[in-house]
Amino acid sequence: MVRVLYANNYDHMSAMAANIIAAQMTLKPDSVLGLATGSTPIGTYKKLIEKNKAGEIDFAPIKTVNLDEYCGLDESNDQSYRYFMNDNLFNHVNIDKANTYVPNGKAEDFAKEGAEYDALVASLGGQDIQLLGLGLDGHIGFNEPCPEFIGPTHEVELDPSTIEANARFFASKDDVPTTAITMGIGTIMKAKKILLIASGKNKKEIFEKTFFGPVTPEVPASILQFHPDVVAIYTEG
Ligand code: GLP
Repeated sequence: MVRVLYANNYDHMSAMAANIIAAQMTLKPDSVLGLATGSTPIGTYKKLIEKNKAGEIDFAPIKTVNLDEYCGLDESNDQSYRYFMNDNLFNHVNIDKANTYVPNGKAEDFAKEGAEYDALVASLGGQDIQLLGLGLDGHIGFNEPCPEFIGPTHEVELDPSTIEANARFFASKDDVPTTAITMGIGTIMKAKKILLIASGKNKKEIFEKTFFGPVTPEVPASILQFHPDVVAIYTEG
């Protein structure tokens, strides 16, 4: 079941998302949080940092698993998703970094890394809540539109439109890695709850296609319509 909510603006969306994650952490202090990168969740992470500093939520018993990583990048590269997570959340809350997991973008064998990552997520008991952004082409994690849904964590070739969209974070488009490792659709769908956030007028059409259109691997996020517990928050602002 999907609950679609509309926020007044980006700040409101971020507050709603942070409240939902904080409630999860309150109800189950040792929750496993599935986390996402991109510009959309930055406000949510800021609110979680504020709540942690105010003593409202405790990250000490929390474990986190991230959706994806660019192939070839690691923590030392400020465009890696590991760097992003440290910079936007982990460095500012009382989490033990040893309990934070991001797929290894420097793995020698991505098929092996994918299988090990799925085994790791399973061994933690799975995500209690999985935060997701939404790509302009309907991707979640880095699951790009394709002829069929891919279940396990795997290596993907990024769509030219995704490379274009993410080029704003890099010195030039040529610096954007062309491949990534991402949790698969199956790994994401096994999360107990899913929280998707999307903001901006340019995401309106894909947000509506995702939740009100047909379920198709050409819009990977549309599979969420089959998940039992999804909250999807959209704001134009
Ligand atoms: C990136 C990430 C996704 C993210 C999406 C949207 O490529 N892999 O996890 O949701 O693109 O990014 P943004 O929030 O910056 O629009």
